[in-house]
Amino acid sequence: MHVIGGTASTALAERISRELGNAPFGIPFTKRFPDGELYVRVGGRLEGDDVVIVQSTRTDQDLVELLLLEDAVREAGARRTFVVVPYFGYARQDRRFFPGEPVSARALCRHVEIDADIVVTVDLHSSQTLSQFSKPAFEASGIPAIARLLRERPVDVLVSPDKGGIDRAKRMSQLLDRPWFALEKTRIDSEHVELSLPPELPMDIRGKHAVIVDDVISTGGTIVEAAKLLKKSGLGAISAACTHGLFLRDAFERIKAVSDEIYSTDTLGNPAEKASVAPDIAQILRRQSPS
Ligand code: R5P
Repeated sequence: MHVIGGTASTALAERISRELGNAPFGIPFTKRFPDGELYVRVGGRLEGDDVVIVQSTRTDQDLVELLLLEDAVREAGARRTFVVVPYFGYARQDRRFFPGEPVSARALCRHVEIDADIVVTVDLHSSQTLSQFSKPAFEASGIPAIARLLRERPVDVLVSPDKGGIDRAKRMSQLLDRPWFALEKTRIDSEHVELSLPPELPMDIRGKHAVIVDDVISTGGTIVEAAKLLKKSGLGAISAACTHGLFLRDAFERIKAVSDEIYSTDTLGNPAEKASVAPDIAQILRRQSPS
């Protein structure tokens, strides 16, 4: 099995290749044509082999690079192409909210899978998006990676910032054998939310260390409000943990100002990247290509 790291996911791709027993790892040559279009070229002898392409699609440029890499790998005669998209962009628009809108997640699934035999991603906004793929598609979770890290830290309680994240907080609470609770969230607009404590808490939270667990930190609005509320409610220490750390604009600094630690996985590459999803992705890949 060969592993190719697109420019959005080079470090994670290399970690995945190590997890696959030091599978041959390569970085494609890329350059921009004078008109701005992207040129890619993959190296190595890929003919007849299973090839893994790792590329998050945070930006439209990342997406174009992924599509070109898939075509290049097919041209190079790969036996099968495993496309790993650690952060799957456009996944949040997973339904048509108003007439005239696209179901962006579905549109992206259709295009990403064209030259893929298998697609692997991590913590989609909604796992139901997996059903938009017509090829075998798998979703790894960022929760075990964060749990491996938190096992070394004194954590008392896990907090989901909203009801939608209850399964994540529950899974983390099982892995760490700690209680959990979910805040009640009302979204005011795309950057502002209102949060409150649930009517019942699993423990006396005063002076305790809470870790707020979310799938994605984007503007940071949710985590900042959650941290402020928990601080006001008497928690002693507050950390923020997420799978995908986008940290738009000054989100990282704003969260740092109201929390003690910020943990993220390496699906995007950011200053909080402390846990790797490479073992979890490699496990799925190994099952698809056992030899
Ligand atoms: C919401 O459904 C998600 O789980 C996150 O809580 C949300 O996307 C975080 O966004 P932001 O950082 O902009 O508040």
